[in-house]
Amino acid sequence: MEHKIVVIPGDGIGGEIVEAALRVLQAAANQSNISLSLQEYYAGGAALDRYEEPLPQETVQAAKQADAVLLGAVGGPQWDGVAPELRPERAILGLRQELGLYANLRPVRVIPSLASYSPVKEEVVSGVDILIVRELNGGIYFGEKGTEGDKAWDVEMYSRPEIERIAEVAFQAAKGRHRQVTSVDKANVLASSRLWRATVMEAAKAHPDISLNHYYVDNFAMQLILAPAQFDVVVTNNLFGDILSDAAAVLAGSIGMLPSASVGRETSLYEPIHGSAPEIAGQGIANPLGTILSAAMLLDYSLQKPEAARAVEQAVEDVLAAGYRTQDIYRPGTTKVSTAEMGRLVEEKLNELAK
Ligand code: IPM
Ligand code: MN
Repeated sequence: MEHKIVVIPGDGIGGEIVEAALRVLQAAANQSNISLSLQEYYAGGAALDRYEEPLPQETVQAAKQADAVLLGAVGGPQWDGVAPELRPERAILGLRQELGLYANLRPVRVIPSLASYSPVKEEVVSGVDILIVRELNGGIYFGEKGTEGDKAWDVEMYSRPEIERIAEVAFQAAKGRHRQVTSVDKANVLASSRLWRATVMEAAKAHPDISLNHYYVDNFAMQLILAPAQFDVVVTNNLFGDILSDAAAVLAGSIGMLPSASVGRETSLYEPIHGSAPEIAGQGIANPLGTILSAAMLLDYSLQKPEAARAVEQAVEDVLAAGYRTQDIYRPGTTKVSTAEMGRLVEEKLNELAK
């Protein structure tokens, strides 16, 4: 059977990191005897330049019919002046909405050979293995917006079914991990957070094997830096999840390391959590590992090849342990490699592991 993968390189470093990740994905597919049909589409600034819209229908339709979507990154300063509804970011938000990608999974794992790379002390970040489950289809991102004279507003609203759905994702994920869910909200101030907390507590009753605790987002932000190893699965709303996942990335040593999966009813989208890094685009120095690890999540969730996913993760760890580094994680005594070289090294290691 052939698996249809829609590939959206996007803008900035998107093309370079996706190319490196495809090399690894293709090698993993070959090893698992699955065939991939890769189809490239435009979104973001690249689409804006070509079609005068950031998310062409063609891209949406192809994505809807795909088994999975692999995305690089979108955006860049050359589109800073465009109208809000044409901004490259609209492509990502549009895909999340149109594909119903309601659950964003952002694993934050500290790879042993990078444990000393975080500005947070090594003994604090060692062993960190957190899965942030971010609600991705609701909240303030998609609530009513308005501007009137010198006022502007964005409404934060959640419905019980939306909260139940994302809580369920968190509880299910916890079953394959350490069976602990932390729900993050601002229930001391926000009505939407009070509904969030009550609904998560109610949903937890169906999962007596999972332990659940609750944090206010301000305290959680502090705990995430002070003692991150205490957390397993973290479930939170769209905005808090956006902010907290960038903060959590600091623990992993570089935001370039972190992958994500946005899971929907029919298809899922995989992308690194970092942006398009226009300042280093075209130089071949971007870190492709976040995208490579996103491809591993694709193998795991969309192609049901967990062994292949684990092999890619192992290959990444081994290449880092052997001292190869892109510029963002380079230190004297390690070997600096380009984006493409990093992709080839992981591919080679993957092939070696399969022997
Ligand atoms: C992310 C990004 C997006 C978000 C932007 C590009 C719309 O920051 O995926 O975390 O805010 O969700
Ligand atoms: Mn973000």
